[in-house]
Amino acid sequence: MSRVVLIYGSQYGSTERYAHWIAEELSQAGVQTEVVAASDISPSLLAEADMVVAGLSDYGGLLTESSELKKLVNQLLAQPLTLFTVSFSGLDGAPQEKLDGILRKNVGEALVDHANGIFHFRGALDHTRLSLKHKTVMIGIRSAIAAIPKKSVANQQMLDSFSQKTVDYSSPEACAPLIQLVRENLG
Ligand SMILES: Cc1cc2nc3c(=O)[nH]c(=O)nc-3n(C[C@H](O)[C@H](O)[C@H](O)COP(=O)(O)O)c2cc1C
Repeated sequence: MSRVVLIYGSQYGSTERYAHWIAEELSQAGVQTEVVAASDISPSLLAEADMVVAGLSDYGGLLTESSELKKLVNQLLAQPLTLFTVSFSGLDGAPQEKLDGILRKNVGEALVDHANGIFHFRGALDHTRLSLKHKTVMIGIRSAIAAIPKKSVANQQMLDSFSQKTVDYSSPEACAPLIQLVRENLG
């Protein structure tokens, strides 16, 4: 039975949820899965994997726990790897090349070039749960977006999230192409 390790770097749970959605679908297809926080990955865990899927959330271009992936770059290069990011806007806010570029900056060229696929999903935002630091950053983001003359739909959704308090644009259906790619790679 093939074994896939799903690694997530997540601060409020969106990316972790994606990792579990992907794992559930793969399990139903007869694949053995293990979902693990990026801070808990170990060389021995990776050595047992036939394939790795890693997802990190985006905070102003900084991807959560990307340093943990970089620590194990040589092992990650030794097996098939699929990468994904989770952000508020995803591909509704920026082109694939820009989001791929954020991944490159955070995890390094080698892992991105090695990846058999890169996906960008939309996440959630719960203003009531944000840390003080994140609330402060959000005030800056709000002013910056408010000043944009022609706002995108994602820009407007970000502004609206402040009054709605909790918004969630994540979707298990969005994972389908990633799951298909993983299954193709497992053969
Ligand atoms: C301080 C802060 C900065 C953020 N910066 C961005 C950003 O630059 N672009 C974006 O699309 N989403 C941004 N987000 C939204 C997060 O990427 C989104 O909430 C994501 O679902 C978080 O995933 P996680 O819960 O797995 O950490 C930001 C959120 C916070 C709190």
